[in-house]
Amino acid sequence: MPKKLVVGNWKLNGSLAANEVLLGGCGTLAGVEMAVCVPFPYLAQAASLLDGMALGAQTVSEFQSGAYTGEVSAEMLAEMGCRYVIVGHSERRALFGEDDAMVGRKAAAALRAELVPIVCVGESLAEREAGRVMEVIGRQLGAVWESIGKEGFSRAVIAYEPVWAIGTGRAASAGEAQEVHAGIRRWLSEREVPLAEIRILYGGSVNAGNAAALFAMPDVDGGLIGGASLVAEEFIAVCRATMTNGGC
Ligand code: PGA
Repeated sequence: MPKKLVVGNWKLNGSLAANEVLLGGCGTLAGVEMAVCVPFPYLAQAASLLDGMALGAQTVSEFQSGAYTGEVSAEMLAEMGCRYVIVGHSERRALFGEDDAMVGRKAAAALRAELVPIVCVGESLAEREAGRVMEVIGRQLGAVWESIGKEGFSRAVIAYEPVWAIGTGRAASAGEAQEVHAGIRRWLSEREVPLAEIRILYGGSVNAGNAAALFAMPDVDGGLIGGASLVAEEFIAVCRATMTNGGC
């Protein structure tokens, strides 16, 4: 099994001064891979301050170059030192009109530049209450499959982020997360994606208090962490939680 992976998603937060304090306080832990996805303008600063943590971005253009004002290509992110890029975060889907097919094209763009796409999927509360969790996730994954196929999925990370858990303080229970992660693993195995190296992260209100229980689940291979990644001590505590219960 690969090491567990914990990725901070700063979202629209940070300043040069605050980033220096935050990254200065993080450090690294043996036994867990740590990464941080920062806003574009801070990539260079973060690259210079990271000491063993991997660098990532929060979205990417589906295009490589040309007349696309405001866009940032995967090749540019790679050149700035990124290893990861989040695609299909529910905030991008809900607020910036990204649909399933576009998420697939963005994942393909990331892979083209040898970045690792962190493909986010997850259901809304209404979809959960209607018993449609795996149907929704299957649709989201299926659209990405159209763009990147088996080979692409074998190089990607998947993040299960139930929309109702993001930023709400109401994380999925360990059992709820495990059930969906197992379903995603089954979906991949039905399509003969080699599972040994695939990491499926859980995201949505993970904090130092609930991380150990989530990471102890057999199919939870790490986390995508929003709010709790903005305070160094809290982020480190979440990362450390991968190592309780032999989690690494
Ligand atoms: P949260 O965000 O940890 O603040 O809920 C997670 C995410 O959106 O990736």
